[in-house]
Amino acid sequence: MCGIVGYIGENDTKEILLNGLEKLEYRGYDSAGIATLNDEGVCLTKVKGRIAALRESVDSSVQSTMGIGHTRWATHGVPGIINAHPHQSASGRFTLVHNGVIENFNKLKKEYLSDFDFVSDTDTEVIVQLIEKLYQKHQNTVTAFREAMRLLKGSYAIGMIDAEDHETLYVSKNKSPLLVGIGDGFNLVASDAMATLKETDQYVEIHDKEIVLVCRNFVEVQTIEGAVVDRKPYTAQIDASDTEKGTYSHFMLKEIDEQPIVMRKIINEYQNEDNELKLDADIRNAMKAADRIYIIAAGTSYHAGLVGKEFLEKLAKIPVEVHVASEFSYNMPLLSEKPLFIFISQSGETADSRSVLVKIKEKGYPALTITNVTGSTLSREANYTLHLYAGPEIAVASTKAYTAQIAVLAILAVDTASAKGFHLDFDPMQELAIVANAMEVLTDQKEELEQLARDYFATTRNAFFIGRSSDYNVSLEAALKLKEISYIQAEGFAGGELKHGTIALIEEGTPVIALATQENVNYSIRGNVQEVVARGANAMIISLKGLEEDDDAFVLPHVHELLTPLVSVIPMQLLAYYAALHRNCDVDKPRNLAKSVTVE
Ligand code: AGP
Repeated sequence: MCGIVGYIGENDTKEILLNGLEKLEYRGYDSAGIATLNDEGVCLTKVKGRIAALRESVDSSVQSTMGIGHTRWATHGVPGIINAHPHQSASGRFTLVHNGVIENFNKLKKEYLSDFDFVSDTDTEVIVQLIEKLYQKHQNTVTAFREAMRLLKGSYAIGMIDAEDHETLYVSKNKSPLLVGIGDGFNLVASDAMATLKETDQYVEIHDKEIVLVCRNFVEVQTIEGAVVDRKPYTAQIDASDTEKGTYSHFMLKEIDEQPIVMRKIINEYQNEDNELKLDADIRNAMKAADRIYIIAAGTSYHAGLVGKEFLEKLAKIPVEVHVASEFSYNMPLLSEKPLFIFISQSGETADSRSVLVKIKEKGYPALTITNVTGSTLSREANYTLHLYAGPEIAVASTKAYTAQIAVLAILAVDTASAKGFHLDFDPMQELAIVANAMEVLTDQKEELEQLARDYFATTRNAFFIGRSSDYNVSLEAALKLKEISYIQAEGFAGGELKHGTIALIEEGTPVIALATQENVNYSIRGNVQEVVARGANAMIISLKGLEEDDDAFVLPHVHELLTPLVSVIPMQLLAYYAALHRNCDVDKPRNLAKSVTVE
């Protein structure tokens, strides 16, 4: 996902922009650029590649106190300097950065800019040329900016500078995240608070279609019609140290190790001083009133939803469907009479998920968002929010957010069960405390898992993860982890399904990793392992203490059978990490990927 940083104040803007963009690198990008403005005019620098290259290219002699910066994750137009942001209008007066996808950019080209020769293939350049065209008509930047925003259809977060106006950053957004940071003698614009936390922890939310004039000593929020909006800043709940690697070589390893701490944080946040579950009564009532739950998510969050389905159906006795957001959005199934939608999203900004939220809200259905980001779009636009308390997750590969999502879903299921009068012999807080200790044991076994990663994944081109019941859900997540950071073609498979075709892919030495944590299918999955071994597979069994057998490669500490996904995923995360490391992949910023996909 692209990143935006803007600054206007008294200090040199270059460093603030570059530092801010570095904090957004985790989101994934392929080019970057900054534009600063001083009495000599606009100084524009763009590179294809990393921020380090941009830092090298920037003219250090240029001093300026206002500017905008951008990291681009290519949508329209290939990665490269021509398509990198910021983009300038023909006269060079307006310079602009943009996150999102303008759906009607070709129509706007035809209607307003048919005689114009574009230099790039981007939808972003259409925006800045359109603003110049409208300025020629209105001779007023705010009016031209506002009219352009009215014409845009699709998602955008925009920061713009006007070479003739050294006092204002022009800002607007629709569906894509953008915040205004409030400082003393300066103000900022950022895609998320992570970029500028060093400068301030005070932020003003921008709502869809609003126009914001960001000046050195004041910020004016306006509706698209021009009415001034009074919006108070909030304090970002992120500790700046959380956004640093510290002694770790990668954010991913740091975040894997943080999982026991996150479990304990969740236990603390979701129970009161009497050790009772502490959930908003409105959420409890909404869950109780629903006749069916629809979990909507993408990627790892979707995999967490599959585990959550087990909890809600087994503990709260409520039927649950889990849907990939991008499918549900355009192929909605027949809904029940009283549905409740649960959106699971680490970032709270996934466009596929948000697209569903917009559609179900139009139908008047209630929505609960489970997310890691306070003030995120999915959090703000849902009726209810449950927070993950996992701290910033920087690595593109989601780890601690996945286990946090599962823990919160377990708590939600138990709370719903008690609200419905069911007696459970399952105390989630006690069981999660046992899980936290088990996670600690596992994250201390890195050497063993690094060796297993060498043995199984050093040179292979493919791999299979198989499991039954909830182990199948974790196998899906294990496969995603491995493929998204090591680029090994990995598949998660139901153990019993492999023989219905896919076993044809098993060759001499094909790695097959099997999970055996569920007593009722223990022997079945071990039978499936024998089937693949008989065809040459290099099989590994990861089992739960109490179910282990002598030749199992790795044994997990015992935890409640419902919560085994919280421990079985840890070795999968570490196997993926070490496989990527040994294959010299960019562990924290894998190719082609973004941390939060804010385009559909
Ligand atoms: C997971 O490792 C990936 N980074 C990706 O699948 C991610 O889970 C997905 O894009 C959903 O993101 P979200 O949780 O922020 O909505």
